[in-house]
Amino acid sequence: MRTVHTLTELRTQVAAWRRSGEEVAFAPTMGNLHRGHIRLVERARQCAPRTVASIFVNPMQFGPNEDYAGYPRTLDEDSRQLAEARLDLLFAPDLADIYPRPLEDMTQVIVPGFTTVLCGASRPVHFGGVATVVTKLFNMVQPDIAVFGEKDWQQLMVIRRMTADLNIPIQIVGVPTVREEDGLAMSSRNGYLSAEQRAVAPTLYAMLQTTAERWRQGERDVAILEEDARAQLRAAGFRPDYFEIRHAETLQRPAPEDMAVDLRIFAAAWLGRARLIDNLAVGHLPS
Ligand code: PAF
Repeated sequence: MRTVHTLTELRTQVAAWRRSGEEVAFAPTMGNLHRGHIRLVERARQCAPRTVASIFVNPMQFGPNEDYAGYPRTLDEDSRQLAEARLDLLFAPDLADIYPRPLEDMTQVIVPGFTTVLCGASRPVHFGGVATVVTKLFNMVQPDIAVFGEKDWQQLMVIRRMTADLNIPIQIVGVPTVREEDGLAMSSRNGYLSAEQRAVAPTLYAMLQTTAERWRQGERDVAILEEDARAQLRAAGFRPDYFEIRHAETLQRPAPEDMAVDLRIFAAAWLGRARLIDNLAVGHLPS
């Protein structure tokens, strides 16, 4: 694996691959890698003969009181894992190469509608920051394919909408969530959990499963399903942000006549200083 820090080095390498007719698959990350990220690289390797990953902790997607400063930066260990996963090229740009001017002076990419619900409601600047940095990384790497984890389902939908709206010629591939044995979705922020909180954390996924099961058993009162789940999360020690059933693709609330469409349950909840998110398909079941 080769590591490059500048756009010139990145472009030279990718251009050489292109000249020899090799496609490129790209996995953007913020580092502090876990098995979920490594699965992204493995999926990228299935998609194209050449693979690029980026590590960049993107300040534009963090709100003023969020964990940008304390976000774990572990480049050496990340590089070791990526080399072991047989990645071809790691792009680790400096802040000034991505944002040469203050953030408020930089052009931003906004994806309307998708970015004001669920995580966007409590993190108003988040998806604008994600869409902007992903657009910039796409323009820098110029991959044929890009892979994103389904744990951040809303992010995946934002990226799909953005690439469609802006005619970006990159195929977006979603990669299923990788879970710990007890069901907890892998996340860099799991490292913020104390031992006690870690023991409670799988309850979030358990509530998604319980709610999906109640739906399959015929419960169709969305408000009751959601409030029951929030109450159980509170009882387990979480501070729920949202627990909502929505259309999987549009992220809109289902109307009663929509009950047979593709629905998904979305959850975000605080446990101590960790904000955990997860989601689960409800399926295409007729009402
Ligand atoms: O999913 C992430 O790790 C980040 O949001 C991404 C896509 C790398 C953009 O900073």
